[in-house]
Amino acid sequence: MTTSSSERGVSLGMPELPAPAYPDDVRTRLEADAREIIARYPGSRSALLPLLHLVQSQEGHVTRTGMQFCADMLGLTTAEVTAVATFYTMYRRRPSGDYQVGVCTNTLCAVMGGDAIFETLQEHLGVGNGETTDDGKVTLEHIECNAACDFAPVVMVNWEFFDNQTPSSAKRLVDDLRAGRPVSPTRGAPLCTFKETARILAGFPDERDGAVGASGSAGHASLMGLRLARGETAPARVVHPRDGGPHDEPRNREVHDPSPAEHLSSHDAPQDTSASDPANPAAGPAAEEGE
Ligand code: FES
Repeated sequence: MTTSSSERGVSLGMPELPAPAYPDDVRTRLEADAREIIARYPGSRSALLPLLHLVQSQEGHVTRTGMQFCADMLGLTTAEVTAVATFYTMYRRRPSGDYQVGVCTNTLCAVMGGDAIFETLQEHLGVGNGETTDDGKVTLEHIECNAACDFAPVVMVNWEFFDNQTPSSAKRLVDDLRAGRPVSPTRGAPLCTFKETARILAGFPDERDGAVGASGSAGHASLMGLRLARGETAPARVVHPRDGGPHDEPRNREVHDPSPAEHLSSHDAPQDTSASDPANPAAGPAAEEGE
C-alpha cells in the first residue's frame, strides 16, 4: 500500500496547519486519558512520550491532529511535539497495519539470517520497508537491535518477540496474521493489535485475562551471565587464542590474586623519564641552535 504525502500528513517533518480537529466525543475521551497520564509527572512536558502513544492508539499513527492535541494538553508548540515524534521510531508517521512486523537487521541478526528473512518477507508480502499490505494487516519494517541478540535472528510483532526465526517460519507468521489465525509470541504477553499495544505503552493497564502473568521473564540464554555471577553454573574457562588452546591451560591452577603493587599501570605509577633514568641522564633543556 502506498501513501501520498497528503495522506501522510507530514511534509519535510513539519505538520501542515491547521490540523483537523478530533470529533468532540473522541477529544473528550482523550482529554480524560491525557489528564490521567499528565498527573503522573512532576512536570507536564515529561508526559509527551506517553501522550504520543495515546494519540497513536487512536488512529494507528501520529497524525497532525494528534500532535496538535499533545501540544494543546502540554502547553508546547507543535514544532516541539513534532521534533520528538519524528525522532523516535516507535511513533509511526503514516497509516499502518494492525500488525507491525519488524525484522531485526542489525549486525548479529543480519548475519544469522535477518537479512534473508527481510528479503523473503518483502517478496512474499509484495511490500517494501515501512509499507503495508493491501488488506491493512501487516506493516513490514527493518528494526534495530532489540537486545535479544541471544535469540537471533529475531522478528518482533507489535514489540513482542518471535525468536530464532527462519525465512519459512517468518512467512508462516505473516500468513497466520493476515488470515486471523491465533499467533503466540515466543516470550511475553499474547499479541494484540498495534493500536491496543500503543494504549498499553501510553501507560494504561493490559486488562486481558492472564496477559500480565504471561509476560514471563528473560529466557535461558539471557540469564546465563546472572547464573554465572551467582555461581549456579561452572564458569567457562577463558583461553587467550595465542596460548595455543585449552590443553595449554593447567587445570585446577590456583587463582593468583595479584597484590595492589602488581597492578601498576601508567596511571598509578610514574614512568621512568630521561630525568630519572640513571642510564640516560638528563642533559637539561635542549638548547636551541644558535643559543
Ligand atoms: S542484533 Fe538483533 S536483537 Fe540484537
